[in-house]
Parts: sequence; structure tokens; C-alpha cells
Amino acid sequence: MVTTQTSPEIPVYRRLPIQIVSGNGCQVTDNTGKTYLDLYGGHAVAALGYNHPELTKSIADQTAKLVIQSNAVDVPIREEAIALLASLSPIPNTQVFMVNSGAEAVENALRLAFLHTKRPRIAALKGAFHGRSAAAAAITDYHDAWYAFPNKPFEVDWIDPTSLEDLEEKITDQTAAFIFEPIQGVAGAIDISYEFAQHAAKICRERDALLIADEIQSGIGRSGTLFATEQLGITPDITTLAKSLAGGLPVSAVLAKQEFCQVPIGTLGTTFGGGPVVCAAMKVVLETVSKQEFLNQVKANSSYLIQLCLASGIQSVTGKGYLLGLHLDQPAGPLRQTLLEKGFLTGDAKNPNVIRLLPPLILTKAEIDLFIQALVETLKEHQA
Ligand SMILES: Cc1ncc(COP(=O)(O)O)c(C=O)c1O
Repeated sequence: MVTTQTSPEIPVYRRLPIQIVSGNGCQVTDNTGKTYLDLYGGHAVAALGYNHPELTKSIADQTAKLVIQSNAVDVPIREEAIALLASLSPIPNTQVFMVNSGAEAVENALRLAFLHTKRPRIAALKGAFHGRSAAAAAITDYHDAWYAFPNKPFEVDWIDPTSLEDLEEKITDQTAAFIFEPIQGVAGAIDISYEFAQHAAKICRERDALLIADEIQSGIGRSGTLFATEQLGITPDITTLAKSLAGGLPVSAVLAKQEFCQVPIGTLGTTFGGGPVVCAAMKVVLETVSKQEFLNQVKANSSYLIQLCLASGIQSVTGKGYLLGLHLDQPAGPLRQTLLEKGFLTGDAKNPNVIRLLPPLILTKAEIDLFIQALVETLKEHQA
């Protein structure tokens, strides 16, 4: 489609009509001085909010010391950050590969699964979002409109996330891996049930297919536990992380059981992945978010938020922790616009009737109260 837009930037998302210039805590400020409570956190990235003193200090200190050294040498801050991440991993004997974006982590998780199993197919969930690179887009259930590449890199078997029969039928001795989001974020914060997850793990074990949890959106405390798979009672073979991992710097990671990482040197590689500055930031995020009291706070505040949303007339709330979908009986777009005018940034979802909330994990009860007050007013103003 030809666009008349004159900006030199290729348009990507439909943009909100504001210009954000700074942030502090859970608030951001636009170029006119107006402040907004950010309940979207820059696509679930700003886990510690904005201008977090320890996070910004770690970035500044590391920047002054060493901005880059490649993976061809050892860098102490990388080793420390990776050791910490591996020690927190839900996977026994975890090894870590650091890259730069969610799609890249997914791509490399799939690469490890193909290399290990030598099988040709991937099973993925209907409604899944795994990213825009070729392999990640091939297992994203929204790719038809924008996939663009002439061929798919491998065959995909699509599984209905509510169907145990689909798991039985579609995970076979040809399946290299079954990949799933424990909470389907872009779909609208849709939960995968405990029973479904248990069954998926069992079938993968029985058939020697790898179980890959894409925790790019749900991981690093967002679900109220460090990893959302903890709440599903399963241990994946591989987990992918990104978004919140360094609190705002571009980073992603593949966490995999050691036995799946036995690949010749050179098979995996990256120029920027695991750079010193992102590793310094990642260390602060992990040290902060992994504290039990921090996670308990996310859980408690999330329950408070859910309860108030339901009492305010929201039809239902899906998701966990601070990855929530508020389901409405009308399109969410106009309500999100009104909320924006009142000073609240919220997210959309593939389901047009869903407002998605992905706030910084430090969002307080007092801030929740402010949002609920605006939500109640907004729902009233938009009553048919
Ligand atoms: C679950 C999940 N996987 C993968 C991705 C892709 O991440 P990125 O945009 O960093 O490539 C996303 C992005 O929203 C995601 O939510």
C-alpha cells in the first residue's frame, strides 16, 4: 500500500498522538509537560519503571567503564549476569545464550530444537505471537497478512490451546518442539490452563519433543512468579526471555538444558548479544525482581487491580500478575483514547475488545486507585 506519510521513518505501529520525552517511576511526561501513568510499560519492557536509581546508575557506571567487547573474549560483567540468570532458571543445568530481541531468542530456541532432535516440524498454539523474523513469524498465528517471505522455513502444526486431543494428535515423532506462551500476551493476556500445560509437558516427554516456553512477555516476574511456567507446574526444556530482562535495554536470552546446547562452536553467534551494558542492567533487574517480597507485592497488587476492575464493570479479566487483559463488551479503542486523554497509557490486543495492561512491576496500590477512578468514569462515559 502506498503511504502519503512524509516522515523519513517507515511506519510500524499505529502511534498514539503524544510525544513522550521523559519518565520517572510509573509516570511518563510528554513534550507539553502533561504526565501519564504508564500501564503499558513500553510493550512490557520497563519492569522497574523509568529513571530507576540503581538501574540508571548501573548503566551509567558500565558505560563509563566498557561499552562493548565481543563474545570472542570473557567479560566479567557478562559472566556475572549470566551466572545469576542461570541460577534463577526453572530449567535444571541451564545454559544461556544472550541475544538482542525476542524474535532472535525464539529463532535460536528453534535452532537448538532442530539440531538436537533432527526432526522437521514444530507444534505451536493458535493465537500465538512469537515475533517477526522468518522462523518466529512462521509460528505466529497472525502472519498471513505480513509474513512476506515466499516460503515457510518448516512445517507447523497448529494446536487449539483448549484441546487436549490436539496435543495428542499433533505432537508426533516428527515434532522437534512444541512452543507456547504460558500466557498468550498479544492475543489479549489469555491464560493457558494448568491441565493443558501438564498434558503438553507429558506428551512432549513421551514423544521426545522439546517443550519450549516463550516467556518473552510473561517472564521476569510479570506473572507474579519469576517464570509463569512455575504456576503451571511444568519444567520446560528451553525458555525464551526478552522485554523486561534488562528493564529497557535491548536484550534477550535462550535458557536451555545443557544437553540441548551441545552444538559446534560457530553454530550460535551474535555481535551485540550479552554486551557489557545490557548485562549490567540485567543484573540489577534480576537482583531486584527475584526477591520474594518483590514478587509477593506484584501478586498482591495484581489481585487488588483485578478485583477493582471486576467491581468497576469490566466483564472479565484474564492473565496473571501485571500481564492482564480487561475484556469489554465493546471495542476497546475509544475507551483507551479517553483513558489517554485522562492521563493513562494502556495497551491493545489482537482481540479488539481487550485493553491490555503491562505496567511496570513497581506499580503501587495508590496508582491502581487512580487508574480505577479513571476507568470507572470512562466506562460511564462510554455506556451505550
Ligand atoms: C511472547 C512473545 N514472543 C516474542 C516476541 C517478539 O519479541 P521482539 O519484538 O523483541 O522480537 C514478543 C513480542 O511482543 C512476544 O510477546
